[in-house]
Amino acid sequence: MQILLIGSGGREHALAWKLAQSTQVEKIYAAPGNPGIAAVEKCECVELNLNDLDSVADFAEEHGIDLTVVGPEATLVAGIADVFATRGLAVFGPSKAAAELEGSKAFAKNIMAKYNIPTAFFKVCEDLETAKAYVKEKGAPIVIKADGLAAGKGVVVAMTEAEALEAIDEMMGEQHKFGGAGARVVIEEFMQGEEASLLAFTDGEHIVPMIASQDHKRAFDGDKGPNTGGMGTYAPAPVLTDILRLRAVEKILKPIVAAMKAEGRTYKGCLYAGLMVCGDEVKVVEFNCRFGDPETQVVLPLLDGDLAEIMLACATGGLDKVDVAWKDCAAVCVVLASGGYPESYKQGYPISGLDKAAAMPETVVFHAGTKMADGEVVTAGGRVLGVTATGKDIAEAQERAYKAAGVISFTDMQYRKDIAWRALKK
Ligand code: AMP
Ligand code: GLY
Repeated sequence: MQILLIGSGGREHALAWKLAQSTQVEKIYAAPGNPGIAAVEKCECVELNLNDLDSVADFAEEHGIDLTVVGPEATLVAGIADVFATRGLAVFGPSKAAAELEGSKAFAKNIMAKYNIPTAFFKVCEDLETAKAYVKEKGAPIVIKADGLAAGKGVVVAMTEAEALEAIDEMMGEQHKFGGAGARVVIEEFMQGEEASLLAFTDGEHIVPMIASQDHKRAFDGDKGPNTGGMGTYAPAPVLTDILRLRAVEKILKPIVAAMKAEGRTYKGCLYAGLMVCGDEVKVVEFNCRFGDPETQVVLPLLDGDLAEIMLACATGGLDKVDVAWKDCAAVCVVLASGGYPESYKQGYPISGLDKAAAMPETVVFHAGTKMADGEVVTAGGRVLGVTATGKDIAEAQERAYKAAGVISFTDMQYRKDIAWRALKK
């Protein structure tokens, strides 16, 4: 198989690393990739214009690509799967209409309401006055979400009414903090509980859930500080017990995939359900139309199966005929970030210790915001690296991940020291 992989983050490095292990895969082109991906066997990084999807399809045709795997949501929401489908090219990832599940929170909430999929109660508001009136009616705590892609930053969990009203002003008033994404807001009930991420493979008809994982969204230890793209993950996440996981599959994943098909928006690829677990209840916080980052960095190391074969079946059908198993061990990923992230930070600092860390037991160092400069790897983003280790349990995986993280350094490096604390407390 010849594969084209779109993206450049830690998630894509994990995808490349796992795809390269498939005996069916001969070559992986990554656009644009990163220095970590470039070092994976069978991988070659290429520059393609991702704003011109026809030219990306031209590349796929010219290079005899059998499967294109799309990492980031923006390229999916832009409709890469539709462009490729009209040219008979196989893509792992949903169509533009199906990617609305992430692209529009209003769409996601409305379809969940229509098909009785458990989620927080909500109201979609088109103007500032209606939004403010609804907040005053419901009171705090309450959650305000800009309707559209806002790089994971368009959500305000308001603990007071004043905070909620201020968020509405910022999103819908003259500031338009999130641009077009703030023209509409979704206001929803604050859900108490513990979050978990449950990703699933689907071919539009069948679903295969992955191992549940848990992200750490806040920047600092003890879940303090601003929200980030994710500072670390672990899997499996014990908060989603076997019973709750089964419930999530039956009450959430299967119904939403069937609903999308019934609505003429058949969903193929990876479906990411962000869940809130409270007692024996599981509700949807959000859906994403792609793999999570850094969830992928802990889920794929536990996959006991051929990722290329699974992905091709998602794209072309027949997922029910493919073997997917999970290893009976655990994984922890610690994100090493630039000092200052998620606010402003400096970049271009040389990174030392990469080879030493990668040689440690059961450890992989996934690159995210890195680049090559004068023959050395330097920082080039907020989240720089994801150090993943596996072990017989979370404690062993955590110890290994932190040992490896400890030998890596760059100026102003910042990382959380408590990844997986919830699992270890249980
Ligand atoms: P989202 O982008 O919708 O996942 O929201 C980002 C984060 O905000 C989630 O991961 C939660 O931590 C939090 N959040 C979103 N919606 C709710 C809700 N209804 N209740 C409590 N927390 C929420
Ligand atoms: N780690 C959260 C996300 O990928 O959306």
